[in-house]
Amino acid sequence: MRRGQAGMNRNLFLHQLGQEYLPAIPDLHARLVADPPARVADVGCGVGWSSIGIARAYPAVHVDGFDLDEASVAEAQTNVAAAGLDDRVRIELRDAADPALAGRYDLVTAFECIHDMADPVGALRTMRHLTGERGTVLVADERVGEHFTAESSDIERFQYGFSVLHCLPVGMADQPSAGTGTVMRTPTLRRYAQAAGFRDVEILPLDNFFFTFYRLVG
Ligand SMILES: C[S@@+](CC[C@H](N)C(=O)[O-])C[C@H]1O[C@@H](n2cnc3c(N)ncnc32)[C@H](O)[C@@H]1O
Repeated sequence: MRRGQAGMNRNLFLHQLGQEYLPAIPDLHARLVADPPARVADVGCGVGWSSIGIARAYPAVHVDGFDLDEASVAEAQTNVAAAGLDDRVRIELRDAADPALAGRYDLVTAFECIHDMADPVGALRTMRHLTGERGTVLVADERVGEHFTAESSDIERFQYGFSVLHCLPVGMADQPSAGTGTVMRTPTLRRYAQAAGFRDVEILPLDNFFFTFYRLVG
C-alpha cells in the first residue's frame, strides 16, 4: 500500500511539481531560486519523492521531510541517498501535529496527507508556525466536489473506495481523530485551516486530474 500509493504520485513529484506547478506560483518560485537558499519542510512526505522532486528542481534549497510512519521514513532515507541528495534533504520521523516541531521555512508542503491525519488542525497549526510571517503553506489534496451528491463523479466514487479501505481506518488508528477520510472537500479544509489560525484558503489555478492545490494564507 505504502509503495503503491507513493508510486501513483511519484511521476507528478519528479516531473511536474518543480517543472510546472511550483514555477506557476511566481513569488514562491522567485524565493526558491533566490539566495540565501530557501528552506522547505515537506510534512507527511511518505517515501520522499516530493522532497526529492523539489530538491532536484531547485538545486540550492534544503528540504526537511517529516513523516510519522517508520517504514516510510526508512524508505525515504534510502531514496534520498540513492538520489545523491543526502547533503540537502533530511528525512525525520516526526508527527506533523507535534507543536514542538521547530524551525523557520520559506515553504511548507503537505501532499495528499492532511486527510490522513488524526489531528489535521494541529498539523496545520504547526505548518503555519513553521512558515512565520513570510513563508508559503501549500497543501495538495483530493480534487473532489464542494458538496456530497449521490450522483457523484467516477473519481469521487474511487476516492470513497480508498477512504473506506485505507485512509479512514489509518486516520482513525490514533485517537482522538478528526476521522476525515479521503474525500476531504474544500469547505472541510477551510474549516481546519481557520481553526489552525489561517485567514484564508486560496485555490491555486493548477490543473491536475486528482489534486486541488491550496495556498493557506495568514
Ligand atoms: C497518502 S500518504 C502520502 C505520502 C506522500 N506525501 C505522497 O503524496 O506520496 C500520507 C502520509 O501521511 C503520513 N502521515 C499521516 N499522519 C501524519 C502526521 N500526523 N505526521 C506526519 N505524517 C503523517 C503517513 O504516514 C503517510 O506517509
